[in-house]
Amino acid sequence: MPLLSTLETPPLFCLADWSTQQLASVEQALSRWVADPAQTPAPAGLGDAMRYAVLDGGKRLRPLLVLAACEAVNGSRRAALRAACAVELIHAYSLVHDDMPCMDNDVLRRGKPTVHVRFGQAQALLAGDALQALAFEILTPDDASVDAAMQARLCRMLAQAAGYQGMAGGQAIDLASVGLPLSSVQLHEMHRLKTGALLQASVMMGASCASTALPVQEALRDYGAAIGLAFQVVDDILDVTADSATLGKTAGKDAAQDKPTFVSLMGLAASTDYAQQLLAQALASLDKVQASGLNDTDALRALADMLVNRQH
Ligand code: IPE
Ligand code: IPE
Ligand code: MG
Ligand code: MG
Ligand code: MG
Repeated sequence: MPLLSTLETPPLFCLADWSTQQLASVEQALSRWVADPAQTPAPAGLGDAMRYAVLDGGKRLRPLLVLAACEAVNGSRRAALRAACAVELIHAYSLVHDDMPCMDNDVLRRGKPTVHVRFGQAQALLAGDALQALAFEILTPDDASVDAAMQARLCRMLAQAAGYQGMAGGQAIDLASVGLPLSSVQLHEMHRLKTGALLQASVMMGASCASTALPVQEALRDYGAAIGLAFQVVDDILDVTADSATLGKTAGKDAAQDKPTFVSLMGLAASTDYAQQLLAQALASLDKVQASGLNDTDALRALADMLVNRQH
């Protein structure tokens, strides 16, 4: 019998089951922490706009990356759940503002009218502002459930990824680049900031929920950079290849608004190849993580694959 058991292959990792389990706690926490009308109601309808922006929608890729990275380093689950929700709030806020008339002027998001269409521009602006602030409140509980140094580390990482050195900076480049033929270097920089930074931060925040050895941190940083870029390359591809019903947002917007994208720079076939190359790079980085010890990278591997090969 012992011989037989050593020959048995371990059960295959199932991303769908793992995600369902993880997201149950994420959804519950978001519903409780985002202006719950029964506990912390927001004035003048602001809570409705905030909850509309966050709940019931989205692939929740960033929270899943936080939790998967935390699992890979055996980190604190409590800290990771807060980090997962905080990153999703920054992401949701970025979408609310990205869709506003002064930016991409979109009317459809996550299969629903955008927040400014539903609640008006002023309320959308404020809902974004309030979600951003709430993200940092969630990262800093006053009940000692998350070590103070860890709280500070998580706040710093999220602030950098969200601000001028990350998402907001990338969005500024995006708006300034309409109609311009960006070079490959410029396009990489724009995508690294506007999308890559928050995805990479998701991975690194998960890894920060433990005291992780430097080589593992570096390998996870490389993984995060590769999937962060791959994610926006695929977003650019799907804008061309998928329809609005599948995406839950308006397809064909990039070409209509003359935005520089990987598809406009290198064409569809080369962009698709490039996304696969980035996936291979991400998986190679995880090999290094795995080689460094007993870290379980199944979820990170499956998420990278899903993120690159997704249909919406
Ligand atoms: C869309 O992100 C916006 C980009 C950063 C390109 P997602 O595709 O992760 O959007 P949701 O969260 O699933 O709606
Ligand atoms: C937005 O990029 C990135 C953000 C920081 C929100 P896009 O403008 O391409 O995102 P979609 O296609 O509207 O989701
Ligand atoms: Mg945009
Ligand atoms: Mg947009
Ligand atoms: Mg897009």
